[in-house]
Amino acid sequence: MFETAPLNPPDAIFGLIEQFKKDTNPNKINLSVGVYQDESGATPVMKCVRMAEQKLLDAAGTKSYLPIDGPASYNNAIGRLILGDLYDHANVNSVSAQTPGGTVSLRLAGELLRRVFSVDTIWMSNPTWANHPKIYGAAGLNVEKYDYLDEQGTRLDFERLVSSLDGAKPKQAILLHTVCHNPTGVDPTPEQWEELCKVIAEKQLFPVFDFAYQGFGTSLDADAFPIRKFVESGGEALVCNSFSKNFGLYAERVGGITAVSKDADVAKAMLSQIKLTIRTMYSNPPLHGGAIVDTVLNDAELREVWEAELTEIRNRILQLRAGFVAAMQKRIPDTDFQYILDQRGMFSYSGLTADQVGKLMNEHAIYALKSGRINVAGINSGNLDQICDAIASVV
Ligand code: LMR
Repeated sequence: MFETAPLNPPDAIFGLIEQFKKDTNPNKINLSVGVYQDESGATPVMKCVRMAEQKLLDAAGTKSYLPIDGPASYNNAIGRLILGDLYDHANVNSVSAQTPGGTVSLRLAGELLRRVFSVDTIWMSNPTWANHPKIYGAAGLNVEKYDYLDEQGTRLDFERLVSSLDGAKPKQAILLHTVCHNPTGVDPTPEQWEELCKVIAEKQLFPVFDFAYQGFGTSLDADAFPIRKFVESGGEALVCNSFSKNFGLYAERVGGITAVSKDADVAKAMLSQIKLTIRTMYSNPPLHGGAIVDTVLNDAELREVWEAELTEIRNRILQLRAGFVAAMQKRIPDTDFQYILDQRGMFSYSGLTADQVGKLMNEHAIYALKSGRINVAGINSGNLDQICDAIASVV
């Protein structure tokens, strides 16, 4: 039977990691996968994580099963992280479950939407993270796209976004990048979010918030604005969050799914459905990554260390953007690169074509996504000139 399996092409993002590893050029630079790199090009284990791991090591501990939805202390902490003061609001009732990373959380959301609510379609931005359509296709949903960028492909075209939702029908889902849109780095303004929340409510669409970059935009609280705005007036939502980026816990696979409703009994029923779905998919979550996050979020001292580290990362990425723009402006003075300064998070839609990206890779050993997405967090003072010279030579 196996001989009938067609050969699937390598993953658009992870395929490049494999290619990068094989490249023997000593000057190779990886701007492809969304992983934070420090000034030395390393992806360090954060200090708060090492401190939490030490604490966990010192405690007796056990490797027995976790509850299907993960520990209550973890789930309360992520509910509070996402909802802020709304977490204690009588009319905002949320339930959360620990998941192995953001991807599983997104898939769980798809399973719930299809199985429990017979949702058949999910709308997502064009462009979006390359894995989004695959995840929801695998969950049995039809994928529809809403417009996102302007003609130049560098800024949000909000009117176009809203009008491209004209065909959306009640009871369809809409996937939203809460902050630091992947792959473009282009986010709506708070005013546009308010408007979009209204459109979603009017159209009776069901929002799924992908929240992979909390803390990478403006601050932990400001980045949660779209979710809080939507649920404060009674809206229901699913939130899929990840701690890969803001805790640097990529390989630990740790995140969560949160269902928000205005009614406590509804939330309780949602948790029962989330647990049923988890039990049939992976039974219960892995221990280590969640225990780290749980320890940090529930310890005042460790939390302070985490927030300071996250602020440092966010500020450094802003500096990298500024340095990159200044260096490109010198090489190509007649192009306006302001949009790169306005984008947020690790990614920038550089405007490079697939052909130019190919040349960057083949002629300069600089790896970026075919779509033109570059990971700004892969730039450092040692490779900046090499990157900018190479880009200037291919455009
Ligand atoms: C990315 O977009 O590069 C990251 O989110 C990693 C991934 O899983 O694709």
